[in-house]
Amino acid sequence: MKPKVFLTRELPPECMRLLTESTELSYNHEDRVLTKQEIISGVQNMDGLICLLTDTIDDEILAAGSKLQVVSNFAVGFNNIDVNAATRRQIPVTNTPGVLTNSTADMAWALMMDAARRVTEGDRLVRSGQWSGWGPLQLLGPDVSGSTLGLIGLGRIGKAVAKRARGFEMQVRYWNRTRLSESEEAELGVQYFPMEQVLAESDFISLHVALNDETHHLNSSRELSQLKSTACLINTARGPVIHEAALVKALKNGIIGSAGLDVYEEEPAVDKELLRLDNVVLAPHLGSATIGTRTKMGNMAIENCLAACSGNKPPNLINPGAYV
Ligand code: GLV
Repeated sequence: MKPKVFLTRELPPECMRLLTESTELSYNHEDRVLTKQEIISGVQNMDGLICLLTDTIDDEILAAGSKLQVVSNFAVGFNNIDVNAATRRQIPVTNTPGVLTNSTADMAWALMMDAARRVTEGDRLVRSGQWSGWGPLQLLGPDVSGSTLGLIGLGRIGKAVAKRARGFEMQVRYWNRTRLSESEEAELGVQYFPMEQVLAESDFISLHVALNDETHHLNSSRELSQLKSTACLINTARGPVIHEAALVKALKNGIIGSAGLDVYEEEPAVDKELLRLDNVVLAPHLGSATIGTRTKMGNMAIENCLAACSGNKPPNLINPGAYV
């Protein structure tokens, strides 16, 4: 018997083929986020739920899915799921780590290069028809090559960002909850410093921590005031890691130089003032948005779902407590 699976939004074609072959699938045919009520109706009598980072999966939804044997998130981050509630209900929760490391690291670099070299700002100028031609003082930005990169969080994605910095001959400093071994630091070419020092001494700062109670508003006005006034802050992690209103003030008042954001506190809403600032590049949460990565994420989410539905521990289990 094929497991009954509810999918909250369509995935890439290869994943949809696999799901249709291997499950009794029902899914949202419209390209939009489902309401809570729609998810509640959707999970009734389902063995598996495959959901997205835009779906808030709370205890009420888990209660409605009384037969659920898995909540399989199509994302590496899982702050959208009440994992404790799932554990209490003995429902395994899974994510998709590893497969989006490179694409997210590439995105951090895209934002860093864009914010520093003012590509999007220049694009706006050219499109406006107001560009008067090359000028020796036009749209100058900070040097990327040879500068100092500060990484807050050095998990899989942070490390991939560090590797790319080698080609730019940057000095890489990092802070992480747990320090790497000396040999791993040497291999990656990174130096450990306390967070305040990474913030104060870097030209570019890129955030790579998971969102949880400890990292919520990790970068608030106090931390932002420690940055160099020319510093460029990049966030491809989760919006609430930065206090967005404090960032707006810092960008507006020259406390920091620029920023590149892929994530926001209240997605898809973006602070109105941010939209008016020229020294920030705004991307619509595209970190993992490559064809290859999204297909791999889908296949991984399906693999996790099928494993749990057939009574096996899924490979990317977040809450081992669900099996205790
Ligand atoms: C993307 O933001 C993810 O967590 O997978």
